[in-house]
Amino acid sequence: MTIDRTTTATQERVGASLSVRDLRIHYGNVEAVKGISFDILPGEFLTLLGPSGCGKSTTLRCIAGLEPASAGTITIDDTVVAGPGKHVQPEKRGINMVFQSYAVWPHMTVEKNVGYGLKGLQKDEIKTRVDEVLDLIGLGKFAKRYGTELSGGQQQRVALARAIVTRPKVLGARERLTVPGIATPVLAAETAANDVHESASAVFRAESLLAGSAAESAENVWPAKVERVSYLGRHLDVLYSVGDSKVRGELPSATPIVVGDTVTIGIRASDVHFVPHTEV
Ligand SMILES: Nc1ncnc2c1ncn2[C@@H]1O[C@H](COP(=O)(O)OP(=O)(O)OP(=O)(O)O)[C@@H](O)[C@H]1O
Ligand SMILES: [Mg+2]
Repeated sequence: MTIDRTTTATQERVGASLSVRDLRIHYGNVEAVKGISFDILPGEFLTLLGPSGCGKSTTLRCIAGLEPASAGTITIDDTVVAGPGKHVQPEKRGINMVFQSYAVWPHMTVEKNVGYGLKGLQKDEIKTRVDEVLDLIGLGKFAKRYGTELSGGQQQRVALARAIVTRPKVLGARERLTVPGIATPVLAAETAANDVHESASAVFRAESLLAGSAAESAENVWPAKVERVSYLGRHLDVLYSVGDSKVRGELPSATPIVVGDTVTIGIRASDVHFVPHTEV
C-alpha cells in the first residue's frame, strides 16, 4: 500500500490530526492489515493506494471505529482511540465514512452469490459455470467466503461475475442486425458475435440521429419519411419512418422540415446498441 499526500496552505490548516502506528487487523486467520503507520496533519488530504484486498478499507473502518485493532495504535489529536485494551466507540470519534457497496448478498458465499442467477440448471452445470467465472475474475480461492468477508474490489468482482455468469446477450453483442424493410443491415461498433439467430432491437438516442448532409458520413444511412414534427422549444422532435420501422430524432428548432418530406437520416455505429428479445 502506498500513501499519497497533499498539504493545503498553512493558514488553511483546520481539523484534527491523525496518527496510525504499526496497525494490524486480523479477521480470524486473515491478516487484513499488516502493520501500517502514517500521520495526517490538520488540513492534509491523504490517499491510500494499493491492489484490491491489500487492506485500505479495513484501515479506514478501523480508524472510524468499526473494526477493533489487533495491534498498534490510532490517535486522533491527542486521544488514543484504538490501542492495547482501548476501543473508543465510533460515535465518540467524530469521524464519517463513505462505504463501497456492490449489493453482494452478505449471507451468501461468493459461489452462492454468483450461482444465484443460474437456478433451474443442473447442479454440475452451475458448478462448472461458477468455477469458470470465478477463475476468470481471480476469485477462485474465495468461493466459500461470505459477502461480508470480502474487500470492496473483491465484491465488485463478484458483482461482475454475477452479471456475466448467466451469459447475457446484451454484454460485448454482435455487430450487425437485419431489420425488416431496410435493405442493408444496421451496424453497431460492438463486436464479438454470440447468438446471431436471436432477434433483437437496434436502439440509439434520439439526439444522436443525424439528418441531411450530416447523416451522409455515418455508417448507417437511410432514406426516411417525416411522419410527425413536434416543436419542443429548443428542438424539434421528429418521427421518421424507415422501412417498416419508426425512428425518433431531434433537430434544431429552426430546421425547415414538414410532415411528408423525404430526408436522409443516419446514425453512427458507435451510437447503436443491440438489445436482444429474451425473457428476463
Ligand atoms: N470479514 C472478513 N473476514 C475475512 N477476511 C476479510 C474480511 N473483510 C475483509 N477481509 C479480507 O481482508 C483483506 C483486506 O480487505 P480490504 O477491504 O481492507 O481491502 P481493500 O484494500 O479495501 O481492497 P479493495 O481495493 O478491493 O477495496 C482482503 O483480502 C479481504 O478478503
Ligand atoms: Mg476497499
